[in-house]
Amino acid sequence: MIGSSNGVAISITGLGAHVPERVMTNDELSTLMDTSDEWIVERTGIRERRIAAPEEALSDLALPAAHEALDDAGLAGSDVDLVIVATVTPDMAFPATAAILADRLGAHDAAAYDLSAGCTGFMYAVAQAYGMLAGGLAQRALVVGGDVLSKILDWGDRGTAVLFGDGAGAVVLERVGEGGFLGFELGADGSGGPQLYLPAGGSRSPASAETVAERLHFVQMNGREVFKFATRVLVSSAEAVLEECGRTVDEVDVYVPHQANVRIIDHARKKLGIPEERTVVDVDRYGNTSSGSIPLALADAKREGRLQEGRLLLMTGMGAGLTWGSGLIEWTDGGR
Ligand code: ACO
Repeated sequence: MIGSSNGVAISITGLGAHVPERVMTNDELSTLMDTSDEWIVERTGIRERRIAAPEEALSDLALPAAHEALDDAGLAGSDVDLVIVATVTPDMAFPATAAILADRLGAHDAAAYDLSAGCTGFMYAVAQAYGMLAGGLAQRALVVGGDVLSKILDWGDRGTAVLFGDGAGAVVLERVGEGGFLGFELGADGSGGPQLYLPAGGSRSPASAETVAERLHFVQMNGREVFKFATRVLVSSAEAVLEECGRTVDEVDVYVPHQANVRIIDHARKKLGIPEERTVVDVDRYGNTSSGSIPLALADAKREGRLQEGRLLLMTGMGAGLTWGSGLIEWTDGGR
């Protein structure tokens, strides 16, 4: 799916992020499994990640991120008429975490639902909110991307446990005078689904004593295949959205790729021809936070003063599905 904005100006007018307090370093991980700081840094660039407390669920991370985004936009929860939470680790299968969040925010007139597109969820959700606003169905949308993958990791599997962390980010989307989103490109290749999946707990293989004993409620991943997929789609999706919007890679001021592995990020930016100083990287501090990755990186970029009015921002996500998605936005301060 690909499209450009047709002149409707819709932008991010508020931004927030939240990570759990607990920091887990590579050295701590190496006391739990056969790994080392040296291996993890060399192969992934990750130095530490945040891990949610046992009682902390996704909505507990999403709530402070959402409050920050609403404050940033100068809005109250009750001003929002659409809440989408992109995640693969909702509080529970149902009700939707978005409905729980909307209630806690006082967004009582909002449509609220969760969206599942793996680590690409945030890009999908932003595109969907954009479409609802452009079509006149919603006026102000709150989009959260977040995951608590630590709860579904096999802490005995060094091939996955060292890669992920917990966190959530939130954005508010509204109509603005000019600038804002220029276009999106989204895609999925379901044939790659088995490369990264959670085998049990759904209607295909409901929870049972056997599924628990066989450790089927944890993330399973073919790291090498996902690596190849990631390096390919981060480039092809970015190129497609730039072309669709009539922009070139030289015009990109800030590049925000999915934060899975610094080697994947470096490969993509070099292939695209984007200099290191224009690329946002925080995977060293947070690991791969799945749907939280892009909004957390956006929040980091904002804190560093990199999101200035008129700057061209390219975001590309990829993940379970297998899915990918890019968005191009001319950053607006939105009167803040
Ligand atoms: N510590 C130490 N050694 C390890 C570890 C570890 N944590 N993990 C694997 N190894 C070993 C392997 O057993 C292997 O040993 P062997 O050669 O004796 O068999 C060796 O290190 C090399 O393993 P590879 O899998 O070849 O290592 P690679 O360089 O491919 O890196 C990695 C593995 C980091 C997983 C990489 O493939 C990767 O980043 N893949 C993409 C993952 C990703 O982005 N996933 C998220 C997708 S987004 C979403 O939707 C959640």
